[in-house]
Amino acid sequence: MTKLAVAGAGAIGRRHVAHIADHPDLTLAAIIDPDPNAASLADAPWVPDIDAFDGDLDGVVIATPTQYHEPIFAKAARRGWHALIEKPIASDVTGATRMIDISRETSTHILTAHHRRFHPKVTALRAALPRIGAPVLANVLWSVLKPADYFDLAWRQGPEGAPVRMNVSHELDLLQFLFGDVTDVAGLGANRIRNTPRVESGGVVLRFASGLIATIAFADCAASPWGFEHGTGENPNIAQTGETSMMITGTDGAIAFPSLTLFTGATDWADAPSPQRLPSGDGVPLVLQLEHFARVIAGQDAPLNDAVAGRRTLELTLEVERLTAP
Ligand SMILES: NC(=O)c1ccc[n+]([C@@H]2O[C@H](COP(=O)([O-])OP(=O)(O)OC[C@H]3O[C@@H](n4cnc5c(N)ncnc54)[C@H](O)[C@@H]3O)[C@@H](O)[C@H]2O)c1
Repeated sequence: MTKLAVAGAGAIGRRHVAHIADHPDLTLAAIIDPDPNAASLADAPWVPDIDAFDGDLDGVVIATPTQYHEPIFAKAARRGWHALIEKPIASDVTGATRMIDISRETSTHILTAHHRRFHPKVTALRAALPRIGAPVLANVLWSVLKPADYFDLAWRQGPEGAPVRMNVSHELDLLQFLFGDVTDVAGLGANRIRNTPRVESGGVVLRFASGLIATIAFADCAASPWGFEHGTGENPNIAQTGETSMMITGTDGAIAFPSLTLFTGATDWADAPSPQRLPSGDGVPLVLQLEHFARVIAGQDAPLNDAVAGRRTLELTLEVERLTAP
């Protein structure tokens, strides 16, 4: 059994609480949250802050507001606890670097919770990429209409609630997971629908060290069936459509995601490639991520989503935010 605590039992933290409490190989040793209502989320001890917990732990899931990730991780690491930290890893790149330094000094792991890396369809996509030869292009479309009351919270009306930090960050992390290092970024943004002082739609072009070019077109003010969550049904609040959200082309073929349709067999543009549906496994990404965390703690897995990757995703996210500011 791996003994875990969850610090911060809000919107995402309570999902971690429920998944740990339900898992046969994980023990929920504590819920750490200043809100006493958190005590009723599961049958586990509740403490208002990390200093008040005096038991043993293997690791902690940190799902507090982002500005508290670093101080809570510092305390956890000094006690030898590994950490699965919600994204973004920190509010800025300097903070992320300090956290990486602490993790090295204390020999603790940080995993950054970009949970798409554990989606079974992403696992299948990554395994299938060699079948299209050298990847040349990736085209991502993420266009949703967020409900008006989403913006009732004051912080969501500024950059913290804009779709770059909230949503495009996931696309940036996924593309790096699939294709490696990004070397160059360009972007444009707009805010002409809601006229609020934050980007609401835009386009990003990325060049990777491999030469692959990726584009991300994004909007949180345009209704469509296209986007990772719409396509996969990964988020219970977003309707599942099954439609394509990403198209990847290579020297020998192409893949549509999330249908995992592989197109191969064309020798040049005179041929139509043959489509073939690829299988994928099952599983809930947040649960698969927790199981990976337990294996990393046990020394059985190398981290798939380490802090250096989390810091790079944060760095790219902030750069895209700067480039797309309207
Ligand atoms: N992976 C994802 O897709 C995803 C989705 C949503 C949020 N997030 C990230 O998760 C984090 C939390 O976001 P949220 O929307 O769940 O926030 P939230 O406001 O709903 O919940 C935060 C919780 O942390 C608690 N808290 C505050 N200070 C604390 C402290 N010092 N110690 C312990 N608990 C404390 C609050 O009482 C609250 O219950 C953010 O970093 C956010 O970016 C990630």
